Amino acid sequence: MASAEELLLIHWLPRQRWFAGKDRPVTAVRVSGSAELFPGLRFVVLDVEQGSATDRYQLYLGVGEAAPGGLIGPVGPGTVVYDAVHDPALASVLLDRIDAETSAGALRFRRAPGVALDTAAGGRPLGAEQSNTSLVYGTSHILKLFRRLSPGRSPDLEINLALTSRASPYAPAVHGWIELDEGDEPVTLALLSAYVPGAADGWELATARAASAESFAAEAAALGEATAAVHRDLAELFDVRETTSADLAALVDAMRAQLDETSRTVAELRPHAEAIGAVFDTVRALDDPPPLQRVHGDYHLGQALYTGDRWVLLDFEGEPARSPAERRAPSPALRDVAGMLRSFDYAAHASDADASREPSPGASSWAEETRAAFLRGYSSAGGAAVHPDLLHALELDKAVYEIRYEAAHRPAWLPIPLNALSRLTTTRQN
Ligand SMILES: Nc1ncnc2c1ncn2[C@@H]1O[C@H](COP(=O)(O)OP(=O)(O)O)[C@@H](O)[C@H]1O
Ligand SMILES: [Mg+2]
Repeated sequence: MASAEELLLIHWLPRQRWFAGKDRPVTAVRVSGSAELFPGLRFVVLDVEQGSATDRYQLYLGVGEAAPGGLIGPVGPGTVVYDAVHDPALASVLLDRIDAETSAGALRFRRAPGVALDTAAGGRPLGAEQSNTSLVYGTSHILKLFRRLSPGRSPDLEINLALTSRASPYAPAVHGWIELDEGDEPVTLALLSAYVPGAADGWELATARAASAESFAAEAAALGEATAAVHRDLAELFDVRETTSADLAALVDAMRAQLDETSRTVAELRPHAEAIGAVFDTVRALDDPPPLQRVHGDYHLGQALYTGDRWVLLDFEGEPARSPAERRAPSPALRDVAGMLRSFDYAAHASDADASREPSPGASSWAEETRAAFLRGYSSAGGAAVHPDLLHALELDKAVYEIRYEAAHRPAWLPIPLNALSRLTTTRQN
C-alpha cells in the first residue's frame, strides 16, 4: 500500500523541472531507502516506476507545520511535507556533515583532502533549476545534488577529481561529495565544488554579444585554448586508445541510425538525408583517425563560465540520454569541438528564432567569426588534430540530434539546426 507521502509524490514529481520522465506517465513511486539528517528532515531514495522502467531519484523531505518553500502537500492534521532543498537548515547540515565527514544510514559525507570548508556561509538554491538542483554557499562552494541517480561514481565527480589532482585552472576544484553506500561502487549523490564568483555564463554572454553584433572572437579563442588544455589533461589522466576501422564503422552506423530514425518523424529533414549520409560515410575510410579518449560529452556554451580572463568548464556528466558505460567510453575529442561549434550557431541565431524572423546575415557572419576563432585557439593550444571530415560529420550528427529534439520540444527553434544543414552539407570547413 502506498503511503500518504508516496501518493503526494506521484503527483508532485512530474511537475518538477528536473524530472526526466515527463514523456511517460508515472505508474508507481516507492520510498526504497531513507536516512534521517535531523528531526523532521530525511534523505529519501525514491524508486519511480514508469511502465516497465524504474528510475531512482534522491529527495530531501521535510515535515513540519509549514513549508519554508517547495510545498508537496499535507500528510496529517496541521502537518505538511516539503522539498527541503529550499530549507536553509538543510543546506547548512549538508555542508557541516561534509566538513565533519560523517555518515547517516548508508549516506557517506566526504571532504576532499586538505580542503577547509566555509561552514559559516549559508546555502541557497541556485535560481535556474535545470536537470539538477544546486545549492550555493556564499562565494565559497556550490553543491550539486544529482536528482536522478545513476549507478556508481558520477563521471562529473570522477573527472573533476582527476582535474583537481593536477590543479587545472579550467575546472572548479572538488571540495567534497556525498555518496550512497550500497555494497558495490558507491552511488554519487552530490558534488561540492569551489564556487567561481563573478563569472558570466557562456551562453548568456555569447547570446548578448550576438544580439548586439559585437565580436566574441577573443573569448571564443580563449575557450578553444581551455578546451584543448582540458582535452590534453583528460588524455593523460584516463585511457586513450587508437581508433580502429571497427570503431569508425560503429560511429558511422550510430550516426546513420539516428539520421534514419529522425527522418521518419521529421519531414523537413528528409530532403537532406542523402547528402548527410554521404558526409557520414566519408568517416568509414578516414585516414589516420585521431585516438579515442575521455571527453566532456555534453559540451556547449551553457557548460562554461567566463571570469573575464579565464574559462571554467562545468558539468562533466556526459550526455544525459546515454548509459553510464557509454558516458565513460572513450570518444573522439572532436565530439566536444563539434558540440561547441553547434552552440555558437545556436547563440548566433537565438534572437531570430525567438522573434520567428528569417536568419539575419549578420548572425551568420558572427557565427563564422566565432567558430574560426575557437578553432584557432583550440589548435594553437595543442588540441587534437582537427580532421575536417570527422569534425564535419560530428557537427551534422549533432544537428540531427538537435532537429529531433526541437521538433519534439521547441518547434520555434527547429529552423536553427535545419538551416545549418545546407551549409554543413555543401561547404568544407576547417
Ligand atoms: N563552480 C561553479 N561556480 C559558479 N557557478 C556554477 C559552478 N558550477 C555550476 N554553476 C552554475 O550552476 C549551473 C548548473 O551547473 P551544472 O554543473 O551545469 O549543473 P546541471 O547538471 O544542473 O546543468 C551552471 O550553468 C552555472 O551557472
Ligand atoms: Mg549543465
